[in-house]
Amino acid sequence: MTQKLLTLVSAAALLAACQSVDAPRQQLSDAAIAIKPERWPLQSPVIERNPEHEAKIRDLLSRMTLEEKVGQVVQADIASVTPQQVRDYHLGSVLNGGSSAPGGDNRAAPEAWLALADEFWLASTDISDGRIGIPVMWGTDAVHGHSNIMGATIFPHNIGLGMARDPDLVYRIGKATALEMLTTGVDWTFAPTIAVARNDRWGRTYESYSENPQLVAEYAPRIIEGLQGVLGSDEFLGPGRMLATAKHFVGDGGTTDGVDQGDTAVSQAELRDVHAAGYPPAIAAGVQAVMASFNSFHGEKMHGYKMMLDDVLVDRLGFDGLVVGDWNGHGQVAGCTNTDCAQSFNAGLDMFMAPDSWQPLYKSLLRRVKRGEVTAARLDEAVARVLRVKLRAGLFSAGKPSTRAHAGRFELLSSAAHQAIAREAVRKSLVLLKNNGGVLPLQPGARVLVAGDGADNIGKQSGGWTLSWQGTGNSNAHFPHGVSVYAGLQTALSAIGGEAVLSSDGSFDQRPDVAVVVYGEDPYAEFQGDREHVEFTSDAGLKLLEQFAAEGIPTVSIFLSGRPMWVNPELNASDAFVAAWLPGTAGDGIADVLVADDNGSVRHDFAGRLSFSWPRLATDVAVNIGDDDYDPLFAYGFGLSYSEEGNLPALPLHSGLTGPAAVNPAQLVAFGDPIGQWSLYVNDGSGDTRISDSRARSAAGGIVVSPIDVDAQEDAIHIDWRSAGALFVEGPAADFSREYTADLVLQLHYRVVAAPSSPVHIGVGPEALIDVTAALQSSHDAGWQTAELRLACFGTGPDAMVAVERPIRIVSEGALGLELTRAGIVPNPGDADCSM
Ligand code: BGC
Ligand code: BGC
Repeated sequence: MTQKLLTLVSAAALLAACQSVDAPRQQLSDAAIAIKPERWPLQSPVIERNPEHEAKIRDLLSRMTLEEKVGQVVQADIASVTPQQVRDYHLGSVLNGGSSAPGGDNRAAPEAWLALADEFWLASTDISDGRIGIPVMWGTDAVHGHSNIMGATIFPHNIGLGMARDPDLVYRIGKATALEMLTTGVDWTFAPTIAVARNDRWGRTYESYSENPQLVAEYAPRIIEGLQGVLGSDEFLGPGRMLATAKHFVGDGGTTDGVDQGDTAVSQAELRDVHAAGYPPAIAAGVQAVMASFNSFHGEKMHGYKMMLDDVLVDRLGFDGLVVGDWNGHGQVAGCTNTDCAQSFNAGLDMFMAPDSWQPLYKSLLRRVKRGEVTAARLDEAVARVLRVKLRAGLFSAGKPSTRAHAGRFELLSSAAHQAIAREAVRKSLVLLKNNGGVLPLQPGARVLVAGDGADNIGKQSGGWTLSWQGTGNSNAHFPHGVSVYAGLQTALSAIGGEAVLSSDGSFDQRPDVAVVVYGEDPYAEFQGDREHVEFTSDAGLKLLEQFAAEGIPTVSIFLSGRPMWVNPELNASDAFVAAWLPGTAGDGIADVLVADDNGSVRHDFAGRLSFSWPRLATDVAVNIGDDDYDPLFAYGFGLSYSEEGNLPALPLHSGLTGPAAVNPAQLVAFGDPIGQWSLYVNDGSGDTRISDSRARSAAGGIVVSPIDVDAQEDAIHIDWRSAGALFVEGPAADFSREYTADLVLQLHYRVVAAPSSPVHIGVGPEALIDVTAALQSSHDAGWQTAELRLACFGTGPDAMVAVERPIRIVSEGALGLELTRAGIVPNPGDADCSM
């Protein structure tokens, strides 16, 4: 190792730099990738247009001003818009993004949500200015229950529901979710995700029911019917029902290397038959909204793809609802920005999701309509689609949110009936991969030690899109009706004369009969969940398993994850292994299956069957049922029952990863040499001096850099500031705007060997520097430290991070002795803020 270990790359550069784990892609002919609408299924619109609605739409259009029409097609985020603005701009819709909540409080009481819904509704229908007053429509990501609301039932994420192979179950979940949503006065959910995830590197794999398009096509209409009611029946959009969204159209689960918001470079046939499989049945079930996807198809972004949005979705598939954009997704269309994008609108987007950009976007759209760059006919068409959906949902006559049928009935949040459905869903989602010696079910009288960081952690078992966007920062206290895995086991075991003892770290006084270890992935959502491979890299669970195994205590793994992962060491160290996915609040569903009755008989058998193929190697990131050379460790459809032979022989321990990526992809130091484009410099006021071979002396001798050994030879540097100056990473401009929006953090591993004598600041990109003097002073002589600072602390907005040449600067105004091993931009562990 001769080169500097301190370097910094963007997550994207890291993806590019590390070994590719995907098979070479097939070459596709131009003909194979051309979109030919006539090759897509032809469905006639399933919903007859209601003549009264159409008359009302015509009447409204004839009276609405241009401003009112433009407002109707713009959706703003509640964190960036006030009720007054909804009135002044006649906005058609508001949403709460994953991080937005009343008063900015993700744990706000349901009463606060309902009160805010009233405020927006009252503002939208205020006609004191002599205008029309069209009720606003509120959308939210109720993707596994009403999951932004404290106290709501959190159902398993879609991946677990796919394992359950029960379309009726997702119908009932949809129905329960709709009721819970209506208590807080929201009208519309951005669910279901009907992505067919084909590369498990994708951080949204868990939002997908299955890699198998058929299963997704079976589920999509049923969850929609649960949410909206069955089309053709009186229940459709009737009491207790609300609006659903099929998302993200289309190809979200098919991006190259599973990169979120990436490019789906498959054939038209694969786009249609695999990724779009859920859309014809979703539309036939009457889904009222479709969300355009962030991804592109061979480089062309869906948000601007007229042939897909108009010719395929509307004309061929017969979709007669509204096409909503995704979070500033229009801004990614060639030639567009977040605040200006006629292209999307002309391509068939009916409503812009313009969370923070709505005001300038509204203005630019109005300007473009006035100039004729967007035709009046196109605007009328989009407004008509929005109004039609509102009319079908009964929003014109529903009245103020708090006066509606289920509003304020907060006893429906986690009602006994809903908890029972969630518990059933958890039971059915569990997949048993191994049961050597029949260690499961747990027997009457058994003393069971429950260990691992997931044992008593409802936040971890719920995953992303739970109370907060990434699902981080949650504790059991935030789930008033939630049951942890441990709590469920304790109740079930004590009912049969046994006991569960919680011991997160695995220590015990009295030797247990069995040890259950609950561990797995920590919560993540879009983008932050993308990985280079599917090896489960944390060894905390493994250490516990090995410790118990060494003492001859039988072990059971309960693995929490958003995707199938390479866990051969854990499988080997477990006598029984249960893939539990992201079960949500009904942790007691796990005990229902794992714990026997008082005769020692099974109460509920394992019903889960893999809806995703399980990888043989960590590099098997895109192994899917139907592949030519299909060779998974556990095939699609696998899952043991109690009556089956559950013995699994020891598995090979080679993960398939070679080199540094096997260590830990987030730790850039593992790569040794500076990655890609970056170099390190020092400057003491007399010009830049490049650090090479871990050594440098700045021009005037004010800063001296030398190599040190920490865990390996020259794996860190010592920077000796003798006078004021800066250390910085520099390279050709890189785009960090996505990392900024996705709330990533700058992570530093450092040790202070000489406390700063004067102020020290750290900067990312061109803008604000953060004062870290106090933090460095207090960590003097305190050993190695890891610091995380949110990128959002370093600038005014994503636009400032579009072309970053100096992704890190450490500026000291005086003497300082600092050692550094690595720096990188990594997912937010959850509690990072603007101080070290
Ligand atoms: C996600 C969507 C979500 C929207 C609103 C986007 O970033 O891709 O799935 O509905 O945000 O939170
Ligand atoms: C997500 C939103 C989230 C926001 C946070 C978006 O990409 O879709 O739901 O609130 O980022 O900045």
